[in-house]
Amino acid sequence: MKTAGVVNASPAVAIFEPVTRVVDFLKRHGFRATILRFWVFVRRIFSNRMVLFYVDVQQSEVSSVSLPQPLTVQRKTSPAEMRSDDWEKIANFWNPPTTRRNMIDRFHHGASLWLIRSADQLAGYGWTMTGQTIEPHYHPLGSNDVHLFDFLVFPEFRGRSLNPLLVDYILAQMVQEGRIRAFIEVREWNKPQLRSLGKTKFQLLGVARKKSFFGQAFVVWIPEERARMVDQAQNQSNRAGRKN
Ligand SMILES: CC(C)(COP(=O)(O)OP(=O)(O)OC[C@H]1O[C@@H](n2cnc3c(N)ncnc32)[C@H](O)[C@@H]1OP(=O)(O)O)[C@@H](O)C(=O)NCCC(=O)NCCS
Repeated sequence: MKTAGVVNASPAVAIFEPVTRVVDFLKRHGFRATILRFWVFVRRIFSNRMVLFYVDVQQSEVSSVSLPQPLTVQRKTSPAEMRSDDWEKIANFWNPPTTRRNMIDRFHHGASLWLIRSADQLAGYGWTMTGQTIEPHYHPLGSNDVHLFDFLVFPEFRGRSLNPLLVDYILAQMVQEGRIRAFIEVREWNKPQLRSLGKTKFQLLGVARKKSFFGQAFVVWIPEERARMVDQAQNQSNRAGRKN
C-alpha cells in the first residue's frame, strides 16, 4: 500500500525534494508567483487564528439527509469495527504512527469516526465527540453538545461536496439523538474548508486565537475579523444575486 512520502523518505530525499519542488514551481510560475506562494506558506506556519462555527442542532432543519447513489455513511466507535483497509488508508495519508495513535486515543475517549464511502471506496471521514473535546476548546461544551473535528476528503474525491454532505448527515443524526449545539472550527487560511462549511447548516460564531496551558484554554476573540468575514459573505451573496 502507498504510504505518506515524507515519513518513509530517506533524509536526502526529505531535504532535496522540497528544494526541487520550489525550483520546479519557480520555472513554471515565475518569481512573483513563487514569492506569493512562499508568503502563504509562512502565514500558514505562523497563523494560529481559527474560525469557529456553531449550530443549534434542534433548529438546524436537517432532520434527514438523503445521500445520492453510490454514497453511504457509516459510524465507527472502536478500532475493532474498522475495516483494515480503511484503517490503513486513513493512517497512511499523513503520518502513520501519529495518526494511528490519535485514532486509538480518540476512540478510547468515546469519539465516533464517520466514514463516507463512494461504492466500496473510502472517500473521506470526520470525527465527533459529545460533551467534551480532545483538547481544551474555544467554547465551553455542555454535556449534550457535540464537537465535530478533523474532517478530510481524499484528493480524488474533492470538489464534489462530499464534505458538506457528510457534515449535514452527521447533524441530522445529532437531531435524532437530541443533541443541543454543535461546534466546528477551521484554520483561517483553510479556504476549501471555509467554503465547504458555507454549504452546511453551520453559522459563523467568530474568529479566535487560543493557547493551552496545563489543560486550560486561554482564548482571545477577534471581533473585527468576524465583522470582516460577515461583510465578505454579504458582498459575495450580493454579487451572486446581481449575476442571477
Ligand atoms: C476541506 C475539505 C474537507 C473539503 O472537502 P470537499 O468534499 O472537497 O468540499 P467541497 O466539495 O465542498 O469543496 C470545497 C472547496 O474546495 C475547493 N476544491 C474544489 N475542488 C477541489 C479539488 N479537486 N481539490 C482541492 N480543493 C478543491 C473549492 O474551493 C471548493 O469550494 P467551491 O465548491 O465553492 O468551489 C477537503 O478539501 C480536504 O480534505 N482538505 C484537507 C483536510 C482539511 O483541510 N480538512 C479540514 C480541517 S478540519
